[in-house]
Amino acid sequence: MSPNPRILIAATEIYPMAKTGGLADAVAALGAALAALKVDVHFVMPAYPQALEQIRHIDASTALPVINGHEGGLLLSTRTPDSQVPLHLVDLPSLYRDGGGLYVDVNGHERHDNPQRFAALSHAIKHLAMGELGQAPFDLVHCNDWHTGLTPLLLLNHVPTDRPATVFTIHNMAFQGQCPLEQWAGLGVALSPEQWPRVEYYGQASFLKAGLEFADQLTTVSPRYAEEIQTAEFGFGLDGVIQARRDRLTGILNGIDESLWTPERSPWVPAPYSAEALSGKAICKQRLQQELALEANPNAPLLAFIGRLTWQKMADVLLETVPHYLASEPDRQFVLLGNGDRGLEAAYQALAAAHPGRVAALFDYTEPLTHRLHAGADILIHGSRFEPCGLTQMYAMRFGTIPVVRPVGGLADTVVDVSADSLAAGEATGFYFDDPSWSGMLGGIDRAVALYRQPDSWRRLQFTAMRQNFGWEKSARAYLEVYARACRR
Ligand code: ADP
Ligand code: GLC
Repeated sequence: MSPNPRILIAATEIYPMAKTGGLADAVAALGAALAALKVDVHFVMPAYPQALEQIRHIDASTALPVINGHEGGLLLSTRTPDSQVPLHLVDLPSLYRDGGGLYVDVNGHERHDNPQRFAALSHAIKHLAMGELGQAPFDLVHCNDWHTGLTPLLLLNHVPTDRPATVFTIHNMAFQGQCPLEQWAGLGVALSPEQWPRVEYYGQASFLKAGLEFADQLTTVSPRYAEEIQTAEFGFGLDGVIQARRDRLTGILNGIDESLWTPERSPWVPAPYSAEALSGKAICKQRLQQELALEANPNAPLLAFIGRLTWQKMADVLLETVPHYLASEPDRQFVLLGNGDRGLEAAYQALAAAHPGRVAALFDYTEPLTHRLHAGADILIHGSRFEPCGLTQMYAMRFGTIPVVRPVGGLADTVVDVSADSLAAGEATGFYFDDPSWSGMLGGIDRAVALYRQPDSWRRLQFTAMRQNFGWEKSARAYLEVYARACRR
């Protein structure tokens, strides 16, 4: 690798330009951390309307070649508003500026043209990486998740030898970007007969499989998940592909952006506080109870769920658990902030209506509200059937809100279960439960509530949780090592 390699990080969401989940936070913070290490790092993503709204000034606008019949595209070059990392926005208005969400249409349904949208993105990334768009060529392209999965293959077929190296990061094996064969023909990806089996997945083409097969190096977002995805339970059908390339796979834990996600520095916390001076947290709780019309009671355990209402996050099991949780003690409170499954939203709405003053259910996710919840709650419930890394449990810990987790993936790697020994040693940071049933989940929550009723022990637990180092620097250096390996091929 050259002493100061040019790195291009490609993703479909990067905070604050666009976000539907942790991918946006993780990619944004990695880029900022690399820039802080003086790495010459750039971002590339689609020019969605919400991304363009965040940008004050475009430094350069370069015409894109016609991509799969889409004419008039532009590459808009600027910098991120917060970290000032160079940012390239792929502006193909017919693909990225036609209403709806990042991946869903105006009715909330998965867009049928996602393969076309993200294949075009990969073509644009290829041109940018090769230095064909008025920029110097890049030494390495770091792709993230299935949306950018075709990029390594396109680069390989474009220039087999003198091409940028490629790294592909798996943020979630469950989303694979399956493309029916009749659509594949229009994506402009020529395959040799030897390459086709490496893209084919049960009669369709898989963008994720292409990324896993053709990138020079693979990473995923926690060491535990790197092990898990080699098994049938967590591999979502691609465990064999991962196993075959495991010598190229590294698990690197995500960090969190500590300039934003801390109770000392969050712009949205009503009363700042720290591990050493916690009194502001009580004020945050009081304000939150007021805001959510929960009974004003400083000693009531306040349990929170923050996340997507999906099978992955066990939102279905939580719905069964909450009535039991509430029934066992009259002062227990619960707040949910999440959206996703419409049926679950309605069910949580009904739960809140049935328990006025004790349950609040919110479905409009905003960053300020999330920070107020992390600051005001006592316990975070984060059951997951699988969890590549998970950021929410780390945000909670930084805010002194104790997570109850299933020890899978990054949850196992970031949370230390309470036991008499781990508590005494000042190592415990949360609670585990294993069985993915309502009774299993309730068992974990009950252990947390019992300790919450012992203020001295709880304070100790909060102190340890809040003082964990979840900064990005160590992980950014680990990525640099992977980049160096990729460049050596
Ligand atoms: P995942 O990416 O699987 O959803 P993470 O824990 O890695 O899980 O990241 C979740 C991120 O998304 C956090 O920044 C969290 O605040 C945010 N978030 C949580 N719930 C929602 C939601 N309903 N809509 C959008 N973002 C959300
Ligand atoms: C995915 C995973 C989550 C991870 C995030 C960022 O959305 O579900 O566990 O934290 O990506 O890497």
